[in-house]
Amino acid sequence: MISIIGAGRVGSSIAFLCVSSGLDDVVLIDRTKDDAIGESLDLANAIPSTSKFSIDATDDFSKISGSDIVVVTASTGVYMQSRTENLSQQVSMIKDIGAKIKQYCPSTIVLIISNPLDVLTYFFQKETGFSRFKVIGVASSLDSSRFRFLISKKFSVSQSDVSDAIVLGEHDISMVPIFSKVSVKGKPLLTLLSDEEKNSMTQDVREYWKKLRKYKGRSQYGIAKNAFDILEAIKNSNTLSVPACVVLEGEYQTNDVAMGVPVKINQNGISEIYEIALNSEESSMLNLSSEIIKNLITSIEN
Ligand code: LAC
Repeated sequence: MISIIGAGRVGSSIAFLCVSSGLDDVVLIDRTKDDAIGESLDLANAIPSTSKFSIDATDDFSKISGSDIVVVTASTGVYMQSRTENLSQQVSMIKDIGAKIKQYCPSTIVLIISNPLDVLTYFFQKETGFSRFKVIGVASSLDSSRFRFLISKKFSVSQSDVSDAIVLGEHDISMVPIFSKVSVKGKPLLTLLSDEEKNSMTQDVREYWKKLRKYKGRSQYGIAKNAFDILEAIKNSNTLSVPACVVLEGEYQTNDVAMGVPVKINQNGISEIYEIALNSEESSMLNLSSEIIKNLITSIEN
């Protein structure tokens, strides 16, 4: 069973992918019960006749008992300029949700989707004391999708012609697109871009969400699909290599900070953190990104 906390656009889109593909039973939870009920009445009709699974809607956290995976998409409200705009309320929210998840399903795997992603993944893990490998923040794979898309547009090629476009670090303004690993139709990306083009693409990846928000209000499908890929890997016992946010204990010279790094996912959550070689510019950008997250964490702890 998969429980999804938050029946907004993101939560309901993840639920849609889960039920329409017959992945598992879904419990959709929202503090506004009617919102969860409304979505579930619609989602129930997306369940194929061949699926044995169903969807339930509630505002009652005790219904998450027995979940294999809980997905947290809840938010405290709209932020416009920065994902950390409502930081203290967001952290209170995640601690509250963490306490409830710990109470009702202490051995579940958790996907954090709520923003600010890295700070909330950190506080969720600290609040619950769950293994850091069972608390997975989903965002760097979305940022990587955006990076890949921008590269494909720039060179007028399909996304399948772009290999190894990954973004690490904070899911916010300091995120680090890893240019040194990317190839386009087999050619190293760094040989195809000027410094100016590289800087401008970095800016575009970092600000993609603002552009999306300007036209659409909130992002939805990209994050939903990236979360679903992880859910599918866990449920179907596949392995999946993606960048995701995890509390680091020494990896990338970083301690006691959660940020996006390349990981391997299997049925138990994160089975491995890959420490990939980065060039010196990327390493220092990643260090800076971890310091920015650390400062946000410290601002709440003090
Ligand atoms: C975004 C949200 C999910 O980047 O943070 O679209």
